[in-house]
Amino acid sequence: MPHKKIENLKASVRNIPDFPIPGIQFKDVTTLFQSPQNLKDLTEVLTDLYKEKGITKVVGIESRGFIMGPILALNMNAGFIPIRKPGKLPADTIEESYEKEYGIDTIQIHKDSLNPEDVVLIHDDLLATGGTMLAAYKLIKRMGVKKIYVNFIIELETLEGRKLFPEDVEVEAIIKYD
Ligand code: PRP
Ligand code: MG
Repeated sequence: MPHKKIENLKASVRNIPDFPIPGIQFKDVTTLFQSPQNLKDLTEVLTDLYKEKGITKVVGIESRGFIMGPILALNMNAGFIPIRKPGKLPADTIEESYEKEYGIDTIQIHKDSLNPEDVVLIHDDLLATGGTMLAAYKLIKRMGVKKIYVNFIIELETLEGRKLFPEDVEVEAIIKYD
């Protein structure tokens, strides 16, 4: 049954050829969010995936992880925690740096945002190389929570980003491109 919903969701993702540079097929998830039915279906499919997991906090990665992150938190009866780009969070933070195609990127989280009892779902819109999510995973791992799940809306399978994660980490994506 979710299969049909996932097909419909996938059909709503817009492909932009040669963005941001020639040769890249950019997956634009904003067109998926335009329809209220899609928002409902996406929320249902994702919430169902984790309904037995006892998620206590959804961590969203700036910026596109901030769209579904709070909706999922609300539906999972969990809190929402932002991971942000440097200098944006006002209280004490811890950070993790990672290599992007051009140079180094850093992400930060508030030090006091998670506790040892938390079961965390880290959410982002898209898995490409996996660099961003791996940095988020490492950051939260350092905070010593009970369990970490990793979730995306879209996975670009040819980039093999999921291989970066330890085998015992459940990495889920609902729309896949090869
Ligand atoms: C995009 C996307 C993911 C990340 C995936 O974010 O939203 O967060 O790249 O790439 P990776 O798997 O190779 O790390 P981007 O950094 O472009 O910023 P945005 O979310 O603020 O648009
Ligand atoms: Mg992003």
